[in-house]
Amino acid sequence: MNDVVASSPIRRHVVVTGGALGIGGAVSRRFGAEGALVVLVDIDEVGAATARAEIVAAGGACIVVIGDITDDETVSALGAAVDEHADGRVDVLVNNVGDFRPAKAVFFKSPPEQWERLHKLNYWHVLTVTHLLLPGMIERGSGAIVNVSTVEAFRGIPGNAVYSGYNAAVSAFTKSLAVEVAGFGIRVNAIAPDLADTPQTPAELMLAGRDPELIKSWVPLGRFGEPDDYADVVAFLASDAARFVTGQTIPVDGGTLAASGWYRKAHGRGWTNMPDHA
Ligand SMILES: NC(=O)c1ccc[n+]([C@@H]2O[C@H](COP(=O)([O-])OP(=O)(O)OC[C@H]3O[C@@H](n4cnc5c(N)ncnc54)[C@H](O)[C@@H]3O)[C@@H](O)[C@H]2O)c1
Repeated sequence: MNDVVASSPIRRHVVVTGGALGIGGAVSRRFGAEGALVVLVDIDEVGAATARAEIVAAGGACIVVIGDITDDETVSALGAAVDEHADGRVDVLVNNVGDFRPAKAVFFKSPPEQWERLHKLNYWHVLTVTHLLLPGMIERGSGAIVNVSTVEAFRGIPGNAVYSGYNAAVSAFTKSLAVEVAGFGIRVNAIAPDLADTPQTPAELMLAGRDPELIKSWVPLGRFGEPDDYADVVAFLASDAARFVTGQTIPVDGGTLAASGWYRKAHGRGWTNMPDHA
């Protein structure tokens, strides 16, 4: 699926895991539109082919690696693709893959196999992919890593304790690694999304038949997020505009974490922390 790509010294080389759809899809297209060489890893072959075609049409270049990022073989294939098509150089790494869906039960009823899958999907690959690509960044003395955590790393989410724990690990890893590699000219940050309208959490599913006007009572900025809302912050964190920012997890959530349990009352009449009094 990959054509030979002419790589220029000024073209940024960007790896995006889960770069086909949703937030990752917007991130890979965002970098593609600025002319980057995007190395996109995804499990969805059709979605990846579409993303690649759009990136190339927008003036970027794209290498696709198909596979499950939690598998060692996929991580090895990513390393080989970077060596072969990107001169072994990665300027920006976006560790985007993550999913809450394997968790279907309350913790005390959940089986260890479920924790293991959540671990692999939400934290483990952040370590393996970063471990793969960090030495090259250190050698060149520059690089930006942006991880994708969640607001649920910072507030309690019943039914998803394990998902929440591994994402808190992503944010803690972000912080500590940032300190560790700052002296090598590498910055490490994260975003913490909430309420993104993506294939994982489609707006229709989140609304579940309720009046869309109700969103204004749940989300201070009054709407669900579009993938570009998150991609813009990732692009900022990876850019020179954020050259003095490292170790941070930036909530991209329309204000839900700031509100933390406060809801706008119906018809705009003030706020309540008891939504049944809305
Ligand atoms: N959607 C939200 O509201 C929300 C909220 C908080 C955090 N997040 C986080 O944001 C990130 C992106 O979420 P999203 O909603 O865009 O996800 P999504 O499921 O809509 O899209 C994920 C992308 O990654 C690919 N993918 C999934 N599993 C993969 C795997 N094992 N290996 C390789 N590719 C894989 C998918 O094919 C898809 O292209 C995740 O880390 C998620 O936890 C999302």
